[in-house]
Amino acid sequence: MLRRLSPVQPESFEFTPANLEWARAQLTKYPQDRRQSGVISLLWRAQEQEGWLSRPAIEYVADFLGMPYIRVLEVATFYFMYQLQPVGKIAHIQICGTTTCMICGAEELIALCREKIAPTPHTVSADGNFSWEEVECPGACSNAPMAQIGKDYYEDLTAEKLSALIDAMAAGQVPVPGPQNGRFSSEPLGGPVALTATERAEQANASVARAAQLGDTLRRIDGTEVPILTPWVRPETAEGDSGAEPKPSLHRPADKTGVTVQEAAATSPGMPVSKIEPAGQPADAKDTD
Ligand code: FES
Repeated sequence: MLRRLSPVQPESFEFTPANLEWARAQLTKYPQDRRQSGVISLLWRAQEQEGWLSRPAIEYVADFLGMPYIRVLEVATFYFMYQLQPVGKIAHIQICGTTTCMICGAEELIALCREKIAPTPHTVSADGNFSWEEVECPGACSNAPMAQIGKDYYEDLTAEKLSALIDAMAAGQVPVPGPQNGRFSSEPLGGPVALTATERAEQANASVARAAQLGDTLRRIDGTEVPILTPWVRPETAEGDSGAEPKPSLHRPADKTGVTVQEAAATSPGMPVSKIEPAGQPADAKDTD
């Protein structure tokens, strides 16, 4: 995507007294010869002040930090969080068009923006209130499709929901950001789906039984191999869902009674784990760590 400065530019730019004070305070974070590290935050503050980042603003920040104009221009044109064109007075809507959002409906959101705001991106709506653009993944993929508006993410959108958000903003409201489908954060739709202890035990035992059937072994970090023993889970845990965590161990298989080396160690205080050999454990299967 080409990011160019707007052909229409204001005459000048300078920080408001409050922003100037803020900018000077920011620079105290950095050593005297590393003041240019503040370029990102100062450009952002300039954009917050004006709504977008004009050429005079970029040059003002460059002068403020003692940087060549081209270096600050490079930063401003690299990150799409910087708006190089005038944007809508109420909101500039950034629709994620990357893969996850695209397959979850971003194209409908973009079509809505074309219809409701302006036919082309970076064009301010007729009433001057809104503008939009398509952006690369802002990192909310598990709540796709989404839009970033200002510093807020609006997630799990549909065209209808985005339309309602725009109407609410036009009416002076600030809709609650986050998922728009009722779920909390990125938790699974329909609520938690974690397995119960019994289900986990069944799955673990089935996997181990299958591996043992195939002659798979466990390779220790010292290169030795031991047979995979079943069951990995104590019978009483597997049969009655006591709520206790099953005790499978990827590195220290249980013996025939379901006792792991760690458990044997716990009942033999003072004895090094390497000396403990659970009942039924092959001699060459000793733990050496
Ligand atoms: S793909 Fe849209 S937020 Fe990541």
